[in-house]
Amino acid sequence: MSEHEHNPFPEEGNTGHIWDDNLRELANPAPKWWMMAFYASIAFVIGYVVIYPAIPLTSSFTKGVTGWTAIGEYNDATAEVEAIRKPFEDKIAKLSAKEILADAELSAYVEASGKVIFGDNCAACHGTGGAGNPGFPVLADDDWLYGGTIDQIQTTITNGRQGMMPKMGGQQLTGAEIDKLANAINNGSITKEPLFTSKGCMGCHGPDGKGMAALGSANLTDGIWRFSEPDQLASIKHTITHGVNDASDPETRKPKMPTFKDKLSKDTIKKLAVYVYKFGGGQ
Ligand code: HEC
Ligand code: HEC
Repeated sequence: MSEHEHNPFPEEGNTGHIWDDNLRELANPAPKWWMMAFYASIAFVIGYVVIYPAIPLTSSFTKGVTGWTAIGEYNDATAEVEAIRKPFEDKIAKLSAKEILADAELSAYVEASGKVIFGDNCAACHGTGGAGNPGFPVLADDDWLYGGTIDQIQTTITNGRQGMMPKMGGQQLTGAEIDKLANAINNGSITKEPLFTSKGCMGCHGPDGKGMAALGSANLTDGIWRFSEPDQLASIKHTITHGVNDASDPETRKPKMPTFKDKLSKDTIKKLAVYVYKFGGGQ
């Protein structure tokens, strides 16, 4: 039967579309709530287009009567933040890192902004909060290779650092001598080991074995390891045998603190020095 030939439900006002004898499409109006929402959305679109930037044109867009833009709001907010920051930034430009540290308000400000700068530039190597990573020194303790005064920290960040220790394996020391030195260092008794003096270790690590900030020579007496490995004795032997940044030895240790003077402004470096100092290990 074709749907148009006979309508078995003439009274109900259906559209005349009938399938399978009695499945039919009614001509009811849409519910009122739905129509209201429909007209409201049209009104909203018109209102929106009038008020806000909306319709893209070839080289511009409709601006809206208020002139509001998202980028404008962002720029205003940024300008507001800049206005708050400016007096601090101006002061930072004039003061040394040491003076910034001494100014409680400024140093609190720097501590807050230093976190982001440190995260972006330093944390990949030194860990969040300067907690250190294998091969990269902890910055949050009071054990320093290159010194923990604020000026020394600033110099480290500005110029970078690269410790040097010649390899001692081969001609300089026999295997037995390396064992003796390594054991003495591991036991914390290196200054009592005659080879420490006779083989010239003292010249760089200092008569007390505590290292010298000018050379970055590690403290060999405190049990804090610059190069720490599960087998610490083997790690010490490796350092003595192959040295540090000794280009003639392919197995040498290769620590390098990069220079930041070309990458960060002087003021940013000052902030970082204060931030690192305030990890708590500054001296
Ligand atoms: C590519 C890895 C790397 C990055 C990035 C890096 N450092 Fe270093 N940093 C090192 C290494 C390696 C050393 C140790 C150098 C050595 O043993 O001679 C070091 C040493 C230091 C020291 C001296 C520690 C001491 O005991 O005297 C300070 C301070 C320091 N870094 C601060 C920073 C700051 C601040 C940043 C970010 C601006 C930074 N570093 C970024 C690798 C890095
Ligand atoms: C020319 C200077 C120099 C001489 C000489 C020297 N060292 Fe070093 N040594 C260093 C420096 C610098 C470091 C730290 C490298 C770094 O972290 O960048 C170091 C690091 C070490 C370390 C690693 C310590 C750690 O915490 O992991 C050991 C062990 C060591 N030296 C032992 C010796 C012994 C033993 C001798 C003598 C046979 C000696 N050194 C002679 C400069 C020297």
